[in-house]
Amino acid sequence: MRAEIVSMTADNLDENAIARAGEILKKGGLVAFPTETVYGLGGDALNPLSSKKIYAAKGRPSDNPLIIHIADMDSLDRIVKEVPEKAMLLAEKFWPGPLTMIFQKSDQVPMETTGGLDSVAVRFPSDGVAAALIRAAGGYVAAPSANTSGRPSPTTAEHVEEDLGDAIDMIIDGGAVGIGLESTIVDFTEEVPVVLRPGYISLEMLKAVLGEVRMDKGLISPDSKIHPKAPGMKYRHYAPKAELSIVEGETEAVTEAINRFALAAEEREEQIGIIATEETFSRYPRGIVKCIGSREEEETIAHNLYEVLREFDQCQVSEIYSEAFYTPRMGQAIMNRLLKAAGHKIIHVQGEK
Ligand code: TXA
Ligand code: MG
Repeated sequence: MRAEIVSMTADNLDENAIARAGEILKKGGLVAFPTETVYGLGGDALNPLSSKKIYAAKGRPSDNPLIIHIADMDSLDRIVKEVPEKAMLLAEKFWPGPLTMIFQKSDQVPMETTGGLDSVAVRFPSDGVAAALIRAAGGYVAAPSANTSGRPSPTTAEHVEEDLGDAIDMIIDGGAVGIGLESTIVDFTEEVPVVLRPGYISLEMLKAVLGEVRMDKGLISPDSKIHPKAPGMKYRHYAPKAELSIVEGETEAVTEAINRFALAAEEREEQIGIIATEETFSRYPRGIVKCIGSREEEETIAHNLYEVLREFDQCQVSEIYSEAFYTPRMGQAIMNRLLKAAGHKIIHVQGEK
């Protein structure tokens, strides 16, 4: 079976297709849909069989819990035990939006959806198409990113089709997403709220509302024996087929080093891939060079990261080298994804960043 593809935007909803998509979900089928972060692979969150289908379609380990997407605040009570006051503050500030919060789950949420955990991740997306679909489906849509497990998350409907076109019932094409990296996850099941995954909403933005907030230790020292608390963060993710390394240091030293790798590859009659920025693009005369965005507009780097990683899978490159992107606001989220894609291979060159 090939997924049916329907196109629409939030300003121009296809009500008919939304109603059909809602029916598919209510009957236990799977529908991929756009959100402001990445495309999601939706199933009925309260139906254990739907969650099982999601894991199967993605090839995802079933101990890796799903996020439940809601479309209004009143839906929250049914799926969680309680909502701490601080979480309400965050909801007021950032919902609907690219924020996921984790609470103790209620009995209504099947263990299949939470990967066997007593807690549940909840997100209230701002995308209008997502909201319409969630309402049509009865209010609770479980959705991981709509990629095959281990591949970069999808930022267009074409990416979804590439990975899951044969495994699901429908794909709603709402065009390219806005942000391009998955939501920030904050865990409220501990005394002090903990960031389990960095995203568009930065640690500083969270601190401004919450005061005290920690980063999960497994994120800070990913090479150590401490596992991240979000089960999904322990897997090697987003990985392109060619081996990816990050080259870090002063711009001058970074471009020189990458150009040396490019020359060495040419001498072996191979080509390397290079992830550059608008600011450095013209400094690389060899290799297949892709511009990820501008350091002056860091949102562009976040927006294009997964697309660039996917594009390299279509190219004949022996390895890929990327500059590092410790940009002021989204740098933490961008580097978290890039480091995972690179399996934490970093080449330090002379000089500091
Ligand atoms: O932006 C997003 O969050 C996208 C869109 C589709 O909403 N969704 C997404 O879902 O990124 P997924 O499944 O690819 O990533 C969810 C992450 C995983 O790392 C998972 O382990 C973690 O959230 N997670 C979910 N429930 C959890 C829980 N109860 N406790 C700890 N981690 C949890
Ligand atoms: Mg994912």
